[in-house]
Amino acid sequence: MEISQLKELLNKLSLEEKIGQLIQLSGEFFSEDQAMLVGPQQKLGINQEMIGLSGSVLNVTGAKKVREIQTNYLNNVDHGIPLLFMSDIIYGYRTVYPIPLGFSTTWDPELIEKGYEIMADEAVAGGAHVTFAPMVDLVRDPRWGRCLESLGEDHFLSSLYSQAMVKGIQKELGATKGLAACVKHFAAYGAAEGGRDYNNVDMSERRLRSEYLPPYKAAIDAGTKMVMTSFNTVDGVPATGNKWLLNDILRKEWGFDGVIISDYAAVQELITHGYAEDESDATLKALEATNDIDMKTSCYANNLADLVNTGKLDSSKIDEAVWRVLCLKNELGLFEDPYRGASEERELTDIFTKENRETALEIAENSMVLLKNKENILPLAKSSKVALIGPYADSQELMGLWAVHGQMSDVKTLKEAFEEKIGSKQVHYTKGCDMLENYDFLGEFGIPIQVIGNYQLTEEEKQAEHAKALAYAKQVDVVIMALGEHTLQSGEAGSRTQLRLPEKQRELLNDIIKLGKKVILITFSGRPLVLTEEFEMVDGLIQAWFPGTEGARALTNIIFGDKNPSARLTQSFPHNEGQIPVYYNSFITGRPENSETHSGRFVSKYLDAPNQPLFSFGYGLSYHETKYKNLEISTTELTLQTSIVATIEVENLSDSQGEEVIQLYIQDQKGSVVRPVKELKGFKKVLLEPLSTTKVEFEITEEMLRFYTRDLTFESESGLFNLMLGKNSDEFLQVEFELIK
Ligand code: IFM
Repeated sequence: MEISQLKELLNKLSLEEKIGQLIQLSGEFFSEDQAMLVGPQQKLGINQEMIGLSGSVLNVTGAKKVREIQTNYLNNVDHGIPLLFMSDIIYGYRTVYPIPLGFSTTWDPELIEKGYEIMADEAVAGGAHVTFAPMVDLVRDPRWGRCLESLGEDHFLSSLYSQAMVKGIQKELGATKGLAACVKHFAAYGAAEGGRDYNNVDMSERRLRSEYLPPYKAAIDAGTKMVMTSFNTVDGVPATGNKWLLNDILRKEWGFDGVIISDYAAVQELITHGYAEDESDATLKALEATNDIDMKTSCYANNLADLVNTGKLDSSKIDEAVWRVLCLKNELGLFEDPYRGASEERELTDIFTKENRETALEIAENSMVLLKNKENILPLAKSSKVALIGPYADSQELMGLWAVHGQMSDVKTLKEAFEEKIGSKQVHYTKGCDMLENYDFLGEFGIPIQVIGNYQLTEEEKQAEHAKALAYAKQVDVVIMALGEHTLQSGEAGSRTQLRLPEKQRELLNDIIKLGKKVILITFSGRPLVLTEEFEMVDGLIQAWFPGTEGARALTNIIFGDKNPSARLTQSFPHNEGQIPVYYNSFITGRPENSETHSGRFVSKYLDAPNQPLFSFGYGLSYHETKYKNLEISTTELTLQTSIVATIEVENLSDSQGEEVIQLYIQDQKGSVVRPVKELKGFKKVLLEPLSTTKVEFEITEEMLRFYTRDLTFESESGLFNLMLGKNSDEFLQVEFELIK
């Protein structure tokens, strides 16, 4: 539709019709069988007329259903403005990738862009218009269940992914291709105090701007069409009513003119926060902050008209918000084709195709982090006889909590993948123990345990399983333990204070270890777990995350050497829970542990744990061995006009090819404010040929050294810097250079 026609359309709408465009309701308001639980269920108390006018639908997909609802809606409204269908399509539609924390370990934004383009194509066939992705909340606290959806602890890397995901989702956005992306949760949701979901966030503006905001900004720069607010406060003001965040930073400073939607019920929660008096006040505060759409509360529906009629709210504010929504609908081509090409036929041809699954396989293979490989126990020979033991060994629950469009029946289990690879005679499988001893916490999901595939063993079965596990372990060359946290223990509202493997699983592992066999542990989880004891006990350790529909194949390829692992961690694995938050780019203290001026007790350290995490940011092993050598820089002086070229040689000491992630870190030695001990500034993922040396170059410019200085200006300061090039944030070669301005 031409812009002039769209303007005419806006002018024709009544106040109620305009308000309708600013309301999002979930499936059950449109069709009886369409409820999906993504937040508290409350009766909204919106009248039927307003329900009939609401302009967007939450979490309904499937071409048949979407077409039905759209047709019915258009038959009942004037002006023919179609509904927008928005959904949580987070890391795959029917073809499911590893959880985002998992795929961030690929260090391959291009591959992720490709994956997100495929994801969008599948979802378009199924009738979606907008996805509530990417989720780019920086996280340094693995207690927070939603680190599953995040991209790790580093803003530089998260920003690259954020951009790649938006580009992939919105590739060739038009009438029948691409989804509108909705970056979330603005802002700083990942910093909820104590890692407890929905909790408050309080941090300096410097930290917010330096570390937490960049990944959202990257999505804005990549052209994301929408932004979702977060549940948390920022500096005492809930994000959904935070004018400074939404209007001053997002819209004015960053120039975002797309649609802002509140998170589920977040407008009403302004009252619970104690920030708004009542629904009317919450509505006023959210709209004045420029939050356009109210997701699933009665606030906008029941209060906006009154606010305008009593003169408390200028009607132009409503027009501005509605205009943004209409522009999005227009850009998506909905006025020309309200179904955007969604069809059941297309679903059959475009979804879960062989090609899409191969991309998911590639992502999964590149996401599994080899954390230990004592005496090169891995890869295993295909002639090995293995015992495959554990609650994840024959489980289809490999997709993680937020893969709501994936189908469990599509998931191959590890046992099946092993049998395909080496033949069933060589694989001795048994579950060994239950996933958890206590499933009480599942009660609140209202889902019977059997429905989610967790059959609890009887006492007799428990003993039999345990005995069988030990018997199988005794008979084989290698024992592979597939253990982990339960799917529902991470994800939204999955905060935990104990991050070790479930007790029964640990007991089983301990008993197996006592047999003196070679043991490889595979951990499935939505977060970094505390694996300190297990790391000591086992010979091999692979972090598999929740790897998606193709995860078992990927893991099997790694275990039997058809894929050389190259993933590197993007979030530190703590030694124990008391260390949290532990992350690689912390500030320098006045009394560092290895201080030259202080020694003994009075330095910054714990008495009962190291300062370092068990596994640091950037860490991960491969089957090839490397030696980093001959770090050189073209000059030791950097100016505004010149750059430095840093080169390093990476020698592959093995006779196999392998991909290596070469990481560049820089430390600003002194500043007008204290600077981090190091910051990731670049990386290159390169293929190393067997027994050869590869020279890799990085260019360093003044721009890379900018930061928020004392008065919050984003600029660089003259002085000395350390440049570190290496294999992770702990192992590198270092040189010094000077910035002269
Ligand atoms: O998109 C999600 C959000 O991440 C958490 N609350 C519910 C939203 C819609 O389902």
